[in-house]
Amino acid sequence: MLINYAATVSADMMGALAVVAAKDAPLSGAALALDGVTGGQIARAVSAARFDGDAASVVEIFAPANSTATRVIVVGLGKADAADAAAFEKIGGAIAAKLITSGEKSVTVDLTGLEGVGLPLAEAAARLAHGATLRAYRFDKYHTTMKASQKATLEAITIVGADDSAHANLAAIAAGVALTRDLVSEPANIIYPESFVERAAAVAPPGLAIEVLGEAEMTRLGMGALLGVSLGSDREAKILVMRWNGGGDAVPVVLVGKGVTFDTGGISIKPAAGMEDMKWDMGGAGAVTGALHALAARNAKVNVIGVCGLVENMPDGKAQRPGDVVTSMSGQTIEVINTDAEGRLVLCDVIWWAQEQFKPEVVVDLATLTGAMVVSLGHEQAGIFANDDALAAQLIAAGAATGDRLWRMPLGAEYDKLIDSPIADMKNVGPREGGSITAAQFIARFIKPGVKWAHLDIAGMAWTAKDGPLCAKGATGYGVRLLEKFVADNFEG
Ligand code: BES
Ligand code: MN
Ligand code: ZN
Repeated sequence: MLINYAATVSADMMGALAVVAAKDAPLSGAALALDGVTGGQIARAVSAARFDGDAASVVEIFAPANSTATRVIVVGLGKADAADAAAFEKIGGAIAAKLITSGEKSVTVDLTGLEGVGLPLAEAAARLAHGATLRAYRFDKYHTTMKASQKATLEAITIVGADDSAHANLAAIAAGVALTRDLVSEPANIIYPESFVERAAAVAPPGLAIEVLGEAEMTRLGMGALLGVSLGSDREAKILVMRWNGGGDAVPVVLVGKGVTFDTGGISIKPAAGMEDMKWDMGGAGAVTGALHALAARNAKVNVIGVCGLVENMPDGKAQRPGDVVTSMSGQTIEVINTDAEGRLVLCDVIWWAQEQFKPEVVVDLATLTGAMVVSLGHEQAGIFANDDALAAQLIAAGAATGDRLWRMPLGAEYDKLIDSPIADMKNVGPREGGSITAAQFIARFIKPGVKWAHLDIAGMAWTAKDGPLCAKGATGYGVRLLEKFVADNFEG
């Protein structure tokens, strides 16, 4: 989406015109002025539609009188003094949703005279543009026979009445979200470990250093847990390392992502129905990649390292079997009871390696780790497990601020003992009950003493089956905005 900022609405503007109206308040600012120009058309339309200014509600008026606009969109602001960043994002999202396939190529959003809102106008404008950009994302590239009426038409938004001073950082974040959504949306014949790395490198902003470990290196390092998962696949596993050094010699924050580019379950194979969803079992790696790209693109004054464990989990004559015992890089041995509990096997080696390599004080991992997480929290929030209350609070706050919400889940010795194995140091699954917690306990066994660690189980959040305010159905990009905000608020100098 092309975003422009202008001082006035040009007299011969083309396309749609959008204005906002506060809840239970008379028309004001640009909406009032437009009502005058059109001979009262706006007031009559909002009354006929029983529009009361509810946040992000929309009334559409075609062919307004005495105007070159093809249509007017009146968007509800909610209570003006409660209109915050999130409200303006939703307004932008509502405008984009209304117009994306409308035939309009452009919309002018007139914020002139907007008063009494809870944030500076430049910030409100940038948030509106951000919401519209996020909501307008589409993944249409494989449609070759789409009807004209289904195709996206909206290309540009011009915002009038505010300057662009708050724009650049949010544009960088939106681009990171789009990258994550692309990676998650792509099918597994297109995005596999090697092509994931290529895609991440191809669009890397200047200064984002990329390194890749292949299987030979992982073998040398003794990553028996990760490599065991990869045995059944013809695709070579990769570890993608993205380093952003914008913060001088500060100790880097390490973000780790589960990147299972397809999860069949392996020999413990999943049922056929819905298995196609497991193309997005790399959503954690996707989020870490999008976040690192966003931080680099906005030149963040912080040191962050993103590490993605990229593997495909396939059944095969060479695949690992239930009951196999593997030795992780940490030296701890694992009885692989269920080859479908592969994410933790990938994460344990990647997290161990990242701790040895970068000596971080803080590690945050993101993973579409367990179906049990979706049973617990549905598709509203991800679960967070943490060994440090302050770190958990920082992440939960970043989640609340960005809409990538998090709910704290427990850890404890009583759960930990459920993954003891009679033959090895641990087994890779506990009982069915508390399945997300025992998965987190497994990872906890690979966190070095003194390291503050949080694990975000995003299984219910990487993909959505229904359209939302800032995201059409499909890949959500969950985690990018959360991680960016977490880093900005707690580590950026
Ligand atoms: N990738 C899945 C988890 C998942 C399931 C994510 C559904 C999103 C939607 C993970 O690798 C897995 O298969 N987990 C198993 C663990 C079980 C074998 C202990 C699960 O949740 O069933
Ligand atoms: Mn699995
Ligand atoms: Zn998985």
